[in-house]
Amino acid sequence: MVIKELIGTNNGKEVYLVTLINKAGNVVRLSNFGARLTWIEVPDKNGIKDNVIFGYDTFDQIIKGDPYFGSVVGRYANRIAKGKFTLEGVEYHLTLNDGVNSEHGGPFGWHSQVWETAGVQDSKFPAIMFTLMSPDMQEGYPGNMDVKVRYTWTDNNELIIDYTCSTDKMSVLNITNHAYFNLHGAGNGDILDHQVVIKASTFVVVDSTLIPTGELRPVTGTPLDFSKPRAVGERIVENYGQIILGKGYDHTFVLDKKDPVDATVYDPQSGRLMEIMTDQPGVQFYTGNFLDGSMIGHGNKPYNYRSGLCLETGHYPDSPNHSEFPTTVLNRGETFNSQTIYRFSIKK
Ligand code: BGC
Repeated sequence: MVIKELIGTNNGKEVYLVTLINKAGNVVRLSNFGARLTWIEVPDKNGIKDNVIFGYDTFDQIIKGDPYFGSVVGRYANRIAKGKFTLEGVEYHLTLNDGVNSEHGGPFGWHSQVWETAGVQDSKFPAIMFTLMSPDMQEGYPGNMDVKVRYTWTDNNELIIDYTCSTDKMSVLNITNHAYFNLHGAGNGDILDHQVVIKASTFVVVDSTLIPTGELRPVTGTPLDFSKPRAVGERIVENYGQIILGKGYDHTFVLDKKDPVDATVYDPQSGRLMEIMTDQPGVQFYTGNFLDGSMIGHGNKPYNYRSGLCLETGHYPDSPNHSEFPTTVLNRGETFNSQTIYRFSIKK
């Protein structure tokens, strides 16, 4: 079932809340403001349902709240050093919004746009499509870019996100979803006991402004080794340079791509398991190190320090300035297609 409700207007455009209910009766909510997820409700080991992502209850809170909770981030998720890159001999300058760098597509990136909402006819599961025309030079990026993000909520509690983008001029692209997860239920304590696996042998080493140095370092022997299940809190306070710079985990992992599942998060308390599958080369693991309780979300609960974690699938930061990284260039006339799946279940 798909339910669409008008909840307000922003810059003259209608903002909707869309509810997807699968055959198991589990609910996902989204809004076309930032093409964002606002709610994913799944049962725990006792069958008790709770929402496991950060979000807001009202239109006013969505508009005024944290811009990234559950949003689609683009045109370039993560950071671009000094907001500069060169394509075909032309140097482009982006809006700087993270100290000396540009982050998450700039302050008025795709997370803050009102997208068009379109019904989906060809899906056997509840689904919705959000579309955006990102104009040439928006936040400094070249090319008119057509963006489509389709969310499908299967009866098996898989949230499938399909991204499709094309441009009329050579540009760069790194699109992701920025959901913050807490498998206890959003707003219920921290995520330090969540056991994480990331199938990555190396990670992207960063400098003090979280820009890649170019080094891809083996995770073995470091606190970033999640090749076996490890509680988030186990090594997060270790005296290790990269952890100190990130104020915790705030790093891109280079996915090995040997298994269909790229990462898992398990909460031993609730029994909830989340598996992540992507065709993208990396995943940014961020442990909510900048959360401070000032953001009040669903049910008036504050989102405290390290009370949510993100696993943002995509490319590495600053790839437009690192020719050794997988390319994020999208050519004129080319279509970018990508899929990420978040699957929820109970670990037996
Ligand atoms: C970044 C963090 C940042 C957060 C919110 C994550 O993708 O890696 O450094 O604080 O987004 O912007």
